[in-house]
Amino acid sequence: MRVLIIGRGGREHALVWKVAQSKHVSDIFVAPGNDGMSKMATCIDIAETAVEQLVAFAKEQTIDLTIVGPESSLSVGVVDAFEAAGLAIFGPTQAAAKIEASKQYAKDLMAKYNIPTATYEVFTDYEAALAYIETTGVPIVIKADGLAAGKGVVVATTFDQAQSALQAMLVDDAFGEAGTRVVIEECLVGEEFSFMAFVRGTDVYPMVLSQDHKRAYDGDSGPNTGGMGAYSDVPQISEVDRQQALETIVKRMAHALVSEGTPFTGFLYGGCMLTNNGVKTIEFNARFGDPETEIILPRLKSDLVEIIQSLLANQTPIIEWSEAQSIGVCIAGKGYPGDVTTMGMPIGGLTDLEQCDDIQVFHAGTKWDGHQWCVNGGRAAYVVASADTLLEAQQKVAQALDRIEQKTVFWRNDIGYKAIAHQKK
Ligand code: AMP
Ligand code: GLY
Repeated sequence: MRVLIIGRGGREHALVWKVAQSKHVSDIFVAPGNDGMSKMATCIDIAETAVEQLVAFAKEQTIDLTIVGPESSLSVGVVDAFEAAGLAIFGPTQAAAKIEASKQYAKDLMAKYNIPTATYEVFTDYEAALAYIETTGVPIVIKADGLAAGKGVVVATTFDQAQSALQAMLVDDAFGEAGTRVVIEECLVGEEFSFMAFVRGTDVYPMVLSQDHKRAYDGDSGPNTGGMGAYSDVPQISEVDRQQALETIVKRMAHALVSEGTPFTGFLYGGCMLTNNGVKTIEFNARFGDPETEIILPRLKSDLVEIIQSLLANQTPIIEWSEAQSIGVCIAGKGYPGDVTTMGMPIGGLTDLEQCDDIQVFHAGTKWDGHQWCVNGGRAAYVVASADTLLEAQQKVAQALDRIEQKTVFWRNDIGYKAIAHQKK
């Protein structure tokens, strides 16, 4: 089979790595990909959102299967266009992907189908929004309705923060069109986890749980980022709570989308929180999580291409998971999540680290200058290890990271700490 993967980050590198292990696959293309994947796949210079060019490429190159990484492709209808052209593709249609592209749409569906989530109100008018938060008080969560590359959520702990978030979104248009409407929701407290599943209509095949660390620095302090690391499994979430999240969040949303006439096919992502009042939904994504993919796929024993082929053919897939636990740590350019001050500069030791046995490196924002890896984005690469326990996996990653010079990059040393503390109890 000839497989096309759409996207350019660590998630797509992990997809390439996993797809390359399939006995059915002869060739892998990535649009646009990155230098780190180019040993395993042919990178082609087509953007994720250039739908017509992607369709033309898939036809010309007789691609047998396309797998979509990012929401940006889904929200412009890449799946609809491939299906209309008779090309096999795995991902939700534009209508189904709206559960990620519009937070209001997602919240309205959750309300309609009784999917547990934070209470909310929607505003387009600054004064009305401000009057509302005067009645609710803080903490309060303010979300831009549309896609904002993970930057459109403000958990405001002071009234000033809430006010400036509203000002930025509704008055100063900081997020453009995506921020002309805001969802203001109750601030939930509890343990977050990512619940992803392979979905086709009402058929839901859960993946193992994972958790990402969004804050920049150790101890979950500092600003929010696109993900400084992740791990799987999540032992702090009991089997009872996992079942509840599966039934009331992930399965209920899959059923809701069928009832709405927009069935979901693809990787469905439920961002969940275990609160004192049971599990609640933080958000839905219409795709594989990033960086969750980088640590989940090493635990998948089955052939990913076979799973996708079975789903597309309306058959029951065989999905087996390894008991091994995995941890991935992000090497980030200095300054991230603000402006990266080391763009283009070498990441000393990364080529050396790639030689380590038992360690996977998934590249996101790196560039190969002909001799060495250089910083080419905030999140440069993920270093992933698996082991019998999370503690051992953490130690393996730490040993590998000892080879990296800290001149141009930084990373967190505590990824997985809550789970490891839980396992020690
Ligand atoms: P998102 O960009 O939607 O993934 O949201 C970013 C982060 O904001 C989430 O991972 C949560 O930590 C936090 N968050 C979002 N919604 C809420 C909420 N209703 N209550 C508390 N925290 C939230
Ligand atoms: N890790 C969260 C996301 O993929 O949006």
